[in-house]
Amino acid sequence: MNTNRRTFLQLASGSALALAGGNFLQSCMNSMNMGDMSDVVIAGETGLPLRLPPVWNGGTINAGSLNLDVQGKTIQAWAMGGSVLAPTIRLRKGAAFSAQLQNQLSTETNIHWHGLTVPSTMDGHPKDVAKAGGSFAYNFPVLDRAGTYWYHPHPHKNTARQTYMGMAGLFIVEDPAAETALGLPSGEFDVPLVLQDKRFGQVKRFVYAPSMADVMTGYLGDTMFVNGVPVPYLDVENGVYRFRILNGATARVMKLGFENGMAFHVIGTDGGLIDAAERVTSVILSPGERVEILVDFSSVAMNGSVLFKTLDFTLPAAPASSTPHGGMNGMSGMMMSAYKQGVAMPIMRFNIKRQTSRQVAIPTTLTPIERLSAGAATKTRTFALNMEMMSFEGGSSPHGGMSGGEMMRHTINGKLFAMERVDEKIAFGATEIWEFQNKGDEPHPMHVHGTQFQVLSRSIGTLTAVDKGWKDTVLVNPGETVRVILRFDKYRGLYLVHCHNLEHEDDGMMLNFEVA
Ligand code: C2O
Ligand code: CU
Ligand code: CU
Repeated sequence: MNTNRRTFLQLASGSALALAGGNFLQSCMNSMNMGDMSDVVIAGETGLPLRLPPVWNGGTINAGSLNLDVQGKTIQAWAMGGSVLAPTIRLRKGAAFSAQLQNQLSTETNIHWHGLTVPSTMDGHPKDVAKAGGSFAYNFPVLDRAGTYWYHPHPHKNTARQTYMGMAGLFIVEDPAAETALGLPSGEFDVPLVLQDKRFGQVKRFVYAPSMADVMTGYLGDTMFVNGVPVPYLDVENGVYRFRILNGATARVMKLGFENGMAFHVIGTDGGLIDAAERVTSVILSPGERVEILVDFSSVAMNGSVLFKTLDFTLPAAPASSTPHGGMNGMSGMMMSAYKQGVAMPIMRFNIKRQTSRQVAIPTTLTPIERLSAGAATKTRTFALNMEMMSFEGGSSPHGGMSGGEMMRHTINGKLFAMERVDEKIAFGATEIWEFQNKGDEPHPMHVHGTQFQVLSRSIGTLTAVDKGWKDTVLVNPGETVRVILRFDKYRGLYLVHCHNLEHEDDGMMLNFEVA
């Protein structure tokens, strides 16, 4: 059954009760905790120092629960490799990676190597899991360009929960031949920052409990964590730093910038360095995306400081009249969550404490990008991103607690994810254009497994600095169509395309494609 939001509202005020067996509207009302509406207090700085994740030194990666000490409180988290965040894996391009995942959780898990091109059976498809108490052996060659990739669990309907609870880490590929000559900041001046928001301010716990409204928007938080530490600080020298930033949130789109408005340079995106540095004062980064930036702190006074934030923003959107769902009224109006996209939140503070002795010039040209040309594409596929009335099975995450019926679900081409169904068949070696058409009023960061792509065009506005270079995740704004070009010439087998708003993914906004 296909319906739009206006129809849904009419249903909700009348026949939805019958339609949904009485459960739907009730759950909807329960999830609209009106008392919440003004309750979200964005957490401020904690005065805690930034932590760097440990570096992985080979061997087993245990998945299990872990007690974290945050602000003198014991927080129960889930960890990979005994740490939140999980250890950073650093390998050279061409290396052979191998690690055993040992699952000590009481639920199934696996690892997906986000952005890396790996054999289908190693990719962390939800059918390939380590059962509770079980294990899974990962082996693959590191084929991809130098860059900042990451890893996180990908079990059926449980990706958001496990990632939120702390299971995520960086996988950095190095390639001295490609990067050394550029003289980019290295060692302690090359700093990974994994950004995740959580509902932590009031509760001082990690609780993953999305209501129905949260499944619509994603589980947005009130506190920004950096490398597992809430709103920390870092002491720096007054020189140039390279920051490798991952938006590791389940749903929050971030507009990254400094409180004093100072400029910085984008040098890399999901698949490594871009061809030319781009000077900006902010960048929009959606869940799953990475951006590498060079920041020069020399304009900040010695012993001064500068706050790094996600700034206020409104996502570009098609005019309400041209979207089938009528913009911000309709579903979002009814299913209003107190948590919102686009809200300003402090991320971390940089304190300028030391005089630099390094001379770092911002390189203008970086690494050449091989352009895929639209003329080489042999096929164009469209992926319509929508919300539709669909049935759902009771009790399943992320709709835990509800007992089944019909409700709005996130679909691609009218379908919810099915584990074994092959939705798209792709000829090995082909170059294709994929068109993501956002038919609704929520942002969808679309992610493709098994290959990297390039963004060709946006229907609203122009390409941003983080759309440049090689990508595996691209933000598709409300009402927008984004075209990307991809080539499937590394591996055959089954891979996934999905929304990286992890609540949407777990809700079924994911398809299988097979390269054969
Ligand atoms: Cu990072 Cu299939 O996801
Ligand atoms: Cu991925
Ligand atoms: Cu989505």
